[in-house]
Amino acid sequence: MEIASSANCDLLIVGGEGDLALRKLYPALYALWRGDALCEQVRIVALARKSPDREGFLALVKERFDTYNPSGAADPEPWSQFIEHLHYYPADATSAEALTGLQEHFGNAERGLVVYLATPPHIFAPVCRALEGAGLVRPSTRIVVEKPLGSNLESFRDINRELTSIFTEEQVYRIDHYLGKETVQNLLALRFANSVIEPLWNNRYVDNVQITVAENIGVSGRWNFYEEAGAMRDMLQNHLLQLLSLAAMEPPAHLSAEDVRNEKVKVLSCLRPMTDEAVRNNTVIGQYTAGAVKGEAVVGYMEEEGAEKTSHTETFVAVKAEIDNWRWAGVPFYLRTGKRLQHRLAEIVVEFKQVPHSIFGPLLQSDSGNRMVIRLQPDEIISLELMNKQAGLEMALPLQQVSLDLTFPEENERAAPDAYQRLLLDVIRENPTLFVRADEVEAAWRWVDGIRAAWERIGMRPKNYSAGSWGPSESIALVARDGRSWYEA
Ligand code: BG6
Repeated sequence: MEIASSANCDLLIVGGEGDLALRKLYPALYALWRGDALCEQVRIVALARKSPDREGFLALVKERFDTYNPSGAADPEPWSQFIEHLHYYPADATSAEALTGLQEHFGNAERGLVVYLATPPHIFAPVCRALEGAGLVRPSTRIVVEKPLGSNLESFRDINRELTSIFTEEQVYRIDHYLGKETVQNLLALRFANSVIEPLWNNRYVDNVQITVAENIGVSGRWNFYEEAGAMRDMLQNHLLQLLSLAAMEPPAHLSAEDVRNEKVKVLSCLRPMTDEAVRNNTVIGQYTAGAVKGEAVVGYMEEEGAEKTSHTETFVAVKAEIDNWRWAGVPFYLRTGKRLQHRLAEIVVEFKQVPHSIFGPLLQSDSGNRMVIRLQPDEIISLELMNKQAGLEMALPLQQVSLDLTFPEENERAAPDAYQRLLLDVIRENPTLFVRADEVEAAWRWVDGIRAAWERIGMRPKNYSAGSWGPSESIALVARDGRSWYEA
């Protein structure tokens, strides 16, 4: 498939030797470059200070690329052409004086400039001021930031105030990498390009919606970071609520960034705030203890490297959310996410109501409703579960559940780009549809802050769960109380 060639645009990666840049950004840029999606003269400049010189920097990039690239080491010929575009600029990113030398790379104001802040948020403000002082903030400059965007509504507003004192909202691209995943975009196609689905997508036909993002990894050596965040702020506030907003939003008038984001923010603003009592009943938090994942023994959260003696940080959270609007009144949205769960899985499951009257009597069991499964990972699947008759001559009609597979054709799957490829290209093409607007982040924080404050007030503490399980048993009970169960393929 041909990708529309991108505009004349250069990139500056601040934090150019950090984990995000090495694991995600250079591989994505390399793939874009190989697909002719970057302009021929593109300059990609890494701003960092660890490597002594460009050779050292390039060796580090290559070493990490070869380690993490799913299809193995880079081909030597295209790689050597790619790195001709990759430059190293060792400097203090917070010093305007130090950054003035970047004019040598980005002096041509005609060309666009994408600045990716792959750094901790506490230096966003000084870096932006330094960029401004160095003359790099122009109308065509775009700034890309990624979570954690604050730890609550107030700290998000502080970060945002700093950013928008230098850049306009249109210049700020807030990444949530889940929005770059192929199936997430397919959800839009599924909902709004098919006339058979949208009429069923409401409280008349939908019984409940389940959103699961399960990981089997632990905190991956980031105990200190994770201890401050927890599953609610690390995953649910952003990735799960973004999935929820896309699954639940009204049809936008157009596929324009503003129309799509206007509809998403409306959903987030309709999330019902929870009283202390509701939080007690409708939320579950857990922390993993030692167990086994994929047949291997793993330690508990408190035994992870860098762990301290006591911690009340949740590594698992499940929430029953309700959306107070016409479409979704009365339909629970069950959300759950956690580390060290049984396996890696991200999916949205829409469970439809039972038929109003069964002419099949007990042959149509209570768990035989229709279901749409939209799986993002590990595999990308969209399937619709329907009932049909088993072949045979029996007098009664024996029923069975079958899956109608709407999965991408194989060649399409092979072409599915990594989320960062799609998102970087969208910044270059100045298409903010898949980026999160400030008011969406605010609405998500407002709802999450309310729940977290209630946890504090009622002294809610995480329940233990064994690594390799599906979280604390209370999470099963959360759904079972409503006469439902978590979907298991
Ligand atoms: C990040 C979280 O945003 O998403 C990590 O900070 C998590 O803790 C990661 O592991 C999961 O992303 P993915 O794409 O691997 O599901």
